Amino acid sequence: MRKVRVIIYGVGAIGSLIAKFLLEKEGVEIVGAMDTAKDKVGKDLGEVLGIKRKLGIKVSGNVDAVLSEVKADVAIHATSSFLKDTYPQIASLIKHGVKVISTCEELSYPYYTAPELAGKLDTLAKKHKITVLGTGINPGFLMDTLVITLTAPCQKIKKIEAVRVMNAAKRRLPFQKKIGASLMVEEFRRKIKDKQITGHVGLEQSIAMIADSLAWKLDKLIVETLEPIIAKKFAKSGNIKVKAGEVAGLRQRAKGVMKNKDVIILDFQAYIDAEEEYDTITIEGVPNIKQKIQPCVHGDIGTVAMVVNSIPKVIKAPSGLLTMKDLPVPSAVIEDMRKYISF
Ligand SMILES: NC(=O)c1ccc[n+]([C@@H]2O[C@H](COP(=O)([O-])OP(=O)(O)OC[C@H]3O[C@@H](n4cnc5c(N)ncnc54)[C@H](OP(=O)(O)O)[C@@H]3O)[C@@H](O)[C@H]2O)c1
Repeated sequence: MRKVRVIIYGVGAIGSLIAKFLLEKEGVEIVGAMDTAKDKVGKDLGEVLGIKRKLGIKVSGNVDAVLSEVKADVAIHATSSFLKDTYPQIASLIKHGVKVISTCEELSYPYYTAPELAGKLDTLAKKHKITVLGTGINPGFLMDTLVITLTAPCQKIKKIEAVRVMNAAKRRLPFQKKIGASLMVEEFRRKIKDKQITGHVGLEQSIAMIADSLAWKLDKLIVETLEPIIAKKFAKSGNIKVKAGEVAGLRQRAKGVMKNKDVIILDFQAYIDAEEEYDTITIEGVPNIKQKIQPCVHGDIGTVAMVVNSIPKVIKAPSGLLTMKDLPVPSAVIEDMRKYISF
């Protein structure tokens, strides 16, 4: 049986980690790479990944050029958080007959926040018999798929709360930048207002995915807070230095309201040097359920795994724009990838 053929669309921080992990795995091969960054286009993928060998794959700035030369089963897409940016990129992959697994946060559950674009993408994917999935650690797992799974043994549910607290010092630079680490408070507020930094993207998508799984019709889905967390002492992580009084990261809360009650609450905190890291899910219902993962799941490691582990399930899935709640129970691909698929 031949290997699963993958192209990497977006060889940034996450795309590179995914590519390196794929190079270690049996039963799968990278056949092409695509990125628009000037310092990457035209270079060998091995050089862009910073590994010591050439891979014989040139990073191309043009997806049509890549896909006219190679055949791929799946594209791993990691370029942007926003569906308006990624829509044309994903549409071009669909038209080339390549299945898509994307880390685009807004794609993880776009049916509530961007129903028109979601519908168009779903129609296009079905027309070309292609599966498209948005996934990652969060959105994609910790604050939605795992929450939904934990509701399975419940007979009744009144309220669900998920909290994620992480030390951003352990994360990649683009993540540290988007949570505003090392900015002054006023600069943080201005950059958030001007959308120069985004904070975490995905809380609304996660809430909508949970609500739809439970057939809860929310009256309101509110992003309540996006507040800076201020550093109490000097901290250094990679290229980022944060002084006392500067922004160490942020806290975001969002909630789903039904019949005047807060029924889903998500609380996301990411800041440099957070002392206690955890992921908790609390379900008030029959029975009550409390789960704590400590320390929290590492976001970058988890995202790479979520994407790669989804490959066999996406290859076997029906066509259309699917979400994590439409796929079989998520699980790890530990062995040769071909053992999980039959072409
Ligand atoms: N769901 C999750 O749990 C999860 C987890 C991790 C990451 N993410 C998301 O995944 C995305 C990628 O993350 P990252 O940290 O790897 O970001 P990154 O380091 O900025 O990498 C993105 C790469 O894609 C390139 N790019 C941008 N537009 C492109 C286009 N139209 N065609 C081809 N390449 C393009 C960028 O080039 P330039 O630098 O020139 O723009 C860059 O090289 C982000 O939106 C991030 O928020 C989601």
